[in-house]
Amino acid sequence: MATFSPEPFRIKSIEPIAQSSAADREARLAEAGYNLFNLRAEDVYIDLLTDSGTGAMSANQWAGIMLGDESYAGARSFFHFQDAVRDIMGFEWVAPTHQGRGAENVLFSLMVKSGQVIPNNTHFDTTMGNILARGGNPTNHVIAEAHDPTNAHPFKGNMDVAALEAFIQKTGVENIPLGMTTITNNSGGGQPVSAENIRQTAEVYHRYGIPFFIDACRFAENAYFIKQREAGYQDKAIREIAREIFALADGCLMSAKKDALVNIGGFLALRDEALYRRVAQELTLREGFPTYGGLAGRDLEAMARGLYEGIAESYLAYRINHTRYLADSLVEAGVPVMQPPGGHAVYLDAKQIAGHIPAAQFPAQAVCAALYQQGGIRGVELGSMMFAHQHPETGAWIYPDLELVRLAIPRRVYTQAHLDYVVKIAKQVMDNRAQLRGYRMTYQTKFLRHFTARLAPIEG
Ligand code: F0G
Repeated sequence: MATFSPEPFRIKSIEPIAQSSAADREARLAEAGYNLFNLRAEDVYIDLLTDSGTGAMSANQWAGIMLGDESYAGARSFFHFQDAVRDIMGFEWVAPTHQGRGAENVLFSLMVKSGQVIPNNTHFDTTMGNILARGGNPTNHVIAEAHDPTNAHPFKGNMDVAALEAFIQKTGVENIPLGMTTITNNSGGGQPVSAENIRQTAEVYHRYGIPFFIDACRFAENAYFIKQREAGYQDKAIREIAREIFALADGCLMSAKKDALVNIGGFLALRDEALYRRVAQELTLREGFPTYGGLAGRDLEAMARGLYEGIAESYLAYRINHTRYLADSLVEAGVPVMQPPGGHAVYLDAKQIAGHIPAAQFPAQAVCAALYQQGGIRGVELGSMMFAHQHPETGAWIYPDLELVRLAIPRRVYTQAHLDYVVKIAKQVMDNRAQLRGYRMTYQTKFLRHFTARLAPIEG
């Protein structure tokens, strides 16, 4: 039986959300070309599109918003924020950016030259995009277990360290300006990376003289999984685990919209002063003066406070259990879910739900559309709509192995009753799956088509 532990907070401020009728939602869905990105958020009841920037801030953070120092240079809020990053992550040099991709843009513009290769366990879309934009080549080296939705490996985000080393030897260190690992591995299902694996990854990069950067969006959730699952970490504080991990790296990039519990913000944190000097110059050109980056003073204040709230043990126990509760409840209801559940999201296995719909007719999108139509729930398709690509010579479509629907969970936003409602609707979709129909695309762009595509249901 799935269990839900009580929240370590109570509700001080509420935001109304409204449920519409199924007929209304059918009309909105048709207007949106059956693509949930095209909906107005007001027409969504439970929004599980992303966990990024959608969390609820605490009273302490809102109080910090009022105390934000909006000075252009040397604001007090910057020093609060810098102190928090130094204390939790141990990096001396801290550069705020408007969000994670701002940090990617600044770092890669300085470090990546055309034709160079940047390995990772799995790059997130924007990381990949920012490397490609510099003419670089992002490569993924996650362990094979990551590709099997039924494999319950406890650290499915781990790097295949042997494959990484072989790749470095084959590619040549002169072609690898930096190496990365992403914690947790978002594109691989929010799966954690073990401390041992991060240590081995750092050791390989450093043996070849390659600077090592961590994509740290969900580092606190990752540290909590380490504490729960990895031998020798049970008695360590989350802050201690975080310090140990970051001590292995030369720097990190962070979208603070995840584990720093803010609605906007990010940063780059570095060990090397010379690199920081170059970053500061680039930052001034692209984001803002180095003590505010792309942010207001109030955002820096909220981020400083959020970083500490994000590593609080009681919060993380609630957070990870909240996600697990949704996954376990779905399994109990007979809805197939990728195992084990990650930190920030639950992934429905649409191949098992809508196996009768061929990849060319977007089975995971059919499940997304049904969740919205039947219950006002918005998830995101991670399947043939997002990942299918054409063979460069034959033009034939190549479809991904997995057809998933990501239900990402905003932090501190939805209650147990909301999650139970999601389970009820997902079960209804599952029980009536024979009625699900495929879609054909009526409009698409050449790149990132899933954001703006329009579809039409295939009748019959
Ligand atoms: N790296 C990872 C691992 C991410 O998950 C994200 C964002 C970014 C970098 C970019 O950060 O959005 O602040 O610019 N992930 C969001 C998501 C958008 O829905 O998974 P950003």
